[in-house]
Amino acid sequence: MAELVWPGKYRDGVRVEVARRPPAAIRVEEVHGGRAGLAGEGSPAAGASRNRLVHGDVPDVLAALLPDLAGRVSLVYVDPPFDTGGDFDFQAAIPGAPEDAPRVAVRAYRDARGLDAWIAWFADTAALLRDLLVDGGSFYVHLDAHAAHYAKVVLDEVFGPDAFQREIVWRIGWVSGYKAKSRGWIRNHDTLLFYAKGGRPVTFAKEYVPYPPGYVRRDGKPPRGVGVPVDDVWNAHPLDRLDSIQIMSFSGEKVGYPTQKNEALVARILRASSKPGDIVLDAFVGSGTTAVVAEKLGRRWVACDASPVAIHAARKRLLSLGEIAPFAVERADPAAGDRAAPEGKRSLRARVRVDGRRATIDLVSFALAARALSAVPAATRAGVKHWSQWIDGYCIDWDHQAGVLNAGSRVWRARGQAQLPLVATHAYAGPGRYVALVKAFDVLGGATTKALRVDVDPP
Ligand SMILES: C[S@@+](CC[C@H](N)C(=O)[O-])C[C@H]1O[C@@H](n2cnc3c(N)ncnc32)[C@H](O)[C@@H]1O
Repeated sequence: MAELVWPGKYRDGVRVEVARRPPAAIRVEEVHGGRAGLAGEGSPAAGASRNRLVHGDVPDVLAALLPDLAGRVSLVYVDPPFDTGGDFDFQAAIPGAPEDAPRVAVRAYRDARGLDAWIAWFADTAALLRDLLVDGGSFYVHLDAHAAHYAKVVLDEVFGPDAFQREIVWRIGWVSGYKAKSRGWIRNHDTLLFYAKGGRPVTFAKEYVPYPPGYVRRDGKPPRGVGVPVDDVWNAHPLDRLDSIQIMSFSGEKVGYPTQKNEALVARILRASSKPGDIVLDAFVGSGTTAVVAEKLGRRWVACDASPVAIHAARKRLLSLGEIAPFAVERADPAAGDRAAPEGKRSLRARVRVDGRRATIDLVSFALAARALSAVPAATRAGVKHWSQWIDGYCIDWDHQAGVLNAGSRVWRARGQAQLPLVATHAYAGPGRYVALVKAFDVLGGATTKALRVDVDPP
């Protein structure tokens, strides 16, 4: 069989196996939805049972997940950098700023490895993802013409050629505006490659779109089935509506993340290739789409990303869902926690009042560091009349222990909500000396904590 060879694949004629890093310790930083998500922490069973949003570089994260999750993941969907050569910015909106105020661009990630390095990196990543899958687990990678053809050859080698299932063409949507002006044939599709570990997917539920109005069978009778089965060309038929949210100016799904995918697209994959309760993994979750869809469809999920703004956007989307299964925010690069934020420290002030067993925390002020503030366009800054506009939301751990924020109160600004409530209360079960930890998440993707002592006296 023909073979793709990239620099570094062989040393002295011997295939260099995947560069596995020693498993980095994963540190749990936050738990949302109760400590239940942490029961038995440290054991593989606990690591496999909780939903996880993991911050870190993909080889560190996957190597750290292997002890808990090898052979347990039912579905991998990944939308990795495509080797486009570009930089991608998160467009942060400041609540309450005038409609026409420019958004604040915060670098989300770079996608400029160069093709040789991309292929080597992708081959290593794909091998780690394969090892996390159960036998018969499904693997989807979302790419475009920059890298899809190289990826196909790499994946045939990583999974074995019999594992290949389909190449799916996703038509991005209608052609208008600047896109219509481009020379030559207009680029209007992405490519998804679908593999099954071992060659046969254990789960596959066909999807159908409704019959077109007035549809009759060849014998003139009305159809008896549930609809027309979806083929491997998506969004190319008026009844199969899966247009990219990136071409819709007013999609309610958009959160400002540059390469955010549609929930409907990801939902189609999850419905077809996983069952409720299965573990779904996305190692490049960006704004959190896969985790949000998994949550809505009752799947368990593990979602990872190297970008702090991706983790911020994903956390915010998940917490905005309201009722949610417990999940942990984790870090696979513990040294990173000790590094100073590049744009400097933010400052948060809060005070506590106690009345009997009831404690009330008021947020008093918040300020971005001067360097972060200087990145905000003057017209946008002028629209900030109150310090709370810089904050998207905050969590309070009323009985903070062992370095993990157990979010007892979660306060998030709903879409379009100008004023964030700045007061939260809690009733303690008994007297004692507690530490309450407030963690505020700002609109530029940073987080700041403030610890407060709470003395609850006996009645
Ligand atoms: C195309 S975007 C994913 C967008 C996502 N599907 C969504 O709906 O928002 C690719 C993501 O890969 C992340 N990424 C790039 N290099 C990475 C690496 N080495 N390790 C982990 N994540 C990485 C980027 O931060 C980015 O969020």
